[in-house]
Amino acid sequence: MAQKHDLNRRSFLKRAGITAFAAGAASAVGSGSLTAVVAAAAADVATGGKFDFDTPYSRVGTDSVKWDQQIRSYKQPNLIAGMGIADQDFRAAPCIAQALAERCKHENWGYLDMPKDYIEAIVAWNKKRYNLDIDPETVVLTTGVHPGLISALRAFAPPGSKVLLNTPTYNGFYGDLRYTGTIPEDVPMRLVNGRYSIDFDEFEHHISRDTNVYILCNPQNPTGNHWSPEDLTRIGEICLRRRVLVLADEIHCDFVNKGQKYTPFASLPNKDIVNNSITFKAASKSFSLAAMKNAWYFSTNPDLLSKARAMNRADITTLGMVANKAVLTQGADWLDQLLPYIDANHDLVDSYIRANMPLVKTVKPQGTYLSWLDISAVADRIGAKQKAASMSKAGRMVSPETVVQDWFADNAKVALNAGSSYGTGGENHMRMNIATSRKTLQAALESMSMALKKI
Ligand SMILES: Cc1ncc(COP(=O)(O)O)c(C=O)c1O
Repeated sequence: MAQKHDLNRRSFLKRAGITAFAAGAASAVGSGSLTAVVAAAAADVATGGKFDFDTPYSRVGTDSVKWDQQIRSYKQPNLIAGMGIADQDFRAAPCIAQALAERCKHENWGYLDMPKDYIEAIVAWNKKRYNLDIDPETVVLTTGVHPGLISALRAFAPPGSKVLLNTPTYNGFYGDLRYTGTIPEDVPMRLVNGRYSIDFDEFEHHISRDTNVYILCNPQNPTGNHWSPEDLTRIGEICLRRRVLVLADEIHCDFVNKGQKYTPFASLPNKDIVNNSITFKAASKSFSLAAMKNAWYFSTNPDLLSKARAMNRADITTLGMVANKAVLTQGADWLDQLLPYIDANHDLVDSYIRANMPLVKTVKPQGTYLSWLDISAVADRIGAKQKAASMSKAGRMVSPETVVQDWFADNAKVALNAGSSYGTGGENHMRMNIATSRKTLQAALESMSMALKKI
């Protein structure tokens, strides 16, 4: 596999200006040899515990959605940056490779008896980082936040019932609703000078007799909002009063920019509000472990939990558990170094776009590694609405944002996500994932700016 994509990997390294030494290190790790992985992990220890997020780490040739899928679907072998799906480009925390290598020494992969210390690691992580007390008995493992949400939707939202969403919101929720035969009820957020907020009257207005569930995204994908305790309490009060269950998806919670704070829904002082919720979390966004298929949910309400649990079938893999346990017990230093790096990436995006892309507007988000770009002027300039209308036919609607997405892929060699898939309010926007090395980010921004200057 590595050989097949070697050309792509090499041209990626060249474009990103990587030194011969770094390129060698990258391909040694990319070769997949266990010895190379362990040696590279040991090298981090030799750097005095300072992790290298700066050297671009090519994922080309690893069947990644973020890069390889874009290269394949856009037939774009010289992609400068895959900036779509929400995972990271960095070489992961070395404790992962070390733990996996250690486990791989024993060559049997029979059924796994989930060790108690994995649950203890989840509980300890949440206590240490967020002072959140979780009873270990209430932690339910799942193979991802999606399967967890689906189990709760199956338990509490009968097919045909409505599910409230503050939009624009994570596009994957719509897939979960389709899967469970439930109906999205978009509640558009207020947008003032690039900042989003919840209109609480509007929110309540959207609740009807057939609304059983609300999916909260905290912090919010794609807008990057961290919700305040006041916002969460207002929303929690409305849901409690109107008998709507809160499913709090907090998968992005570790990413908090300077001066911001993550408030777990389950930490609200009003215990009745908390008892009306289930929280879903994972280490997968924080440590780029998405394909290791591990997540968990919990609730202080045993009745809710047992009903959701009854719909949950989680076959967690041995390697997934080992990788996740490793980061929860040994990954904090790596993450603590990554967070300011991401924050500085956000600053770069903000200042670069302001200075060089008059057709694009953005506001630095409060958290996540996602930027939300207003591209209405770009859409106008390239006639995206007219193009979308002419490309649409019965059964296949093309949105102007998809036209803009294709335009950036063709003209800037950068893959972004079309805002139209994020529900009402996603129009005229693109989502850009900035969890990449600064060199790759800079190259992507420069390429976008150059392409925009030509229109
Ligand atoms: C808000 C949110 N929830 C859930 C997911 C997917 O979670 P998982 O891969 O654990 O199913 C994502 C992935 O981007 C996300 O952004």
